[in-house]
Amino acid sequence: MKATAIASPNIAIVKYWGKRDERLKLPMNDSISVTLDRSLYSETTVEFSKAFSADSMQLDGAEASEREMKNVALVLDCLRKKAKTGMNARIISRNNFPKSSGMASSASGYAALSAAAAAALNLQLDSRELSIAARLGSGSASRSVIGGFAWWKKGQDEDGSDSYAVQVADESHWKDFRIVTAVVSEEKKPVSSTDGMKLTLETSSLYRERLKKLPGTVSRVRQAILGRDAGQLFRLAMEESDSLHASMADTKPPLIYINESSREIMKRVNELNRENGMIAGYSFDAGPNAHIFTTEQNVNRVIHSIKGLAERIVASSPGKGAEVVA
Ligand code: PMV
Repeated sequence: MKATAIASPNIAIVKYWGKRDERLKLPMNDSISVTLDRSLYSETTVEFSKAFSADSMQLDGAEASEREMKNVALVLDCLRKKAKTGMNARIISRNNFPKSSGMASSASGYAALSAAAAAALNLQLDSRELSIAARLGSGSASRSVIGGFAWWKKGQDEDGSDSYAVQVADESHWKDFRIVTAVVSEEKKPVSSTDGMKLTLETSSLYRERLKKLPGTVSRVRQAILGRDAGQLFRLAMEESDSLHASMADTKPPLIYINESSREIMKRVNELNRENGMIAGYSFDAGPNAHIFTTEQNVNRVIHSIKGLAERIVASSPGKGAEVVA
């Protein structure tokens, strides 16, 4: 009972920040993202056997941490329950990109894990069930199950059965859409997103204002994606990232994830847009690395404008969701 799956990271245009249920990873707000192409992916093999005395996981050759194994168990238990089995799993996962690529591997990793484990157990799951399983590992993983542009609905139900990602448009909908990732620092973030979002939820009044505004933003971002309205999408993405980082800064004590180079990149992108019309939009997660949304014809201009500020720059296209490959 063994299967292998691959999945790619996703970059949120409307960000997930704050949980209403810590264990089930139910979010306070809907989020929207774009899944990246297969130049970056996690590949995960899962084998179930009665012979295994416990679950185990190797991640890029090293044993997974206790925190990781807790989240892995949540994903596996959800699938074992569906398959009515108590068998333990041996998991081998690797990323074709290093941590220093500026890309978090949790979204692609848990999406690949869910797809591989479901296949190993011979479960025929739809994307809703897979997205829910991946969400239990890491919230943002619910979106990497889906290709192209994904919309994770926060849902209402206490058991999380309506909190999963759906597709807004597939990876071929907007062929010249690009995501430029600029790695400005390879340092580990000082506060994990799990701890950071909890603190923001508990202490920031600006965050409550943000939550009121978000349903409108989600709807406008969806419309911009469907209409391939690049200028509108880039403007909304920057406003959304700024709003998130304002709430982070309003957290007590303040959460400052961006640094001097990040701020300089914001300035350069704004200058670029002033000179050329809205051709790019920056976005920052819980870290200083920039993700800049743009279109193919402007990728070189974007890269040129931030030269010298980043240690490494990678351009990606929209890509496919999780797939079972063996
Ligand atoms: O799924 P997590 O716990 O890695 O949270 C990710 C949160 C952000 O990356 C900051 C935003 C997002 O929606 O991806």
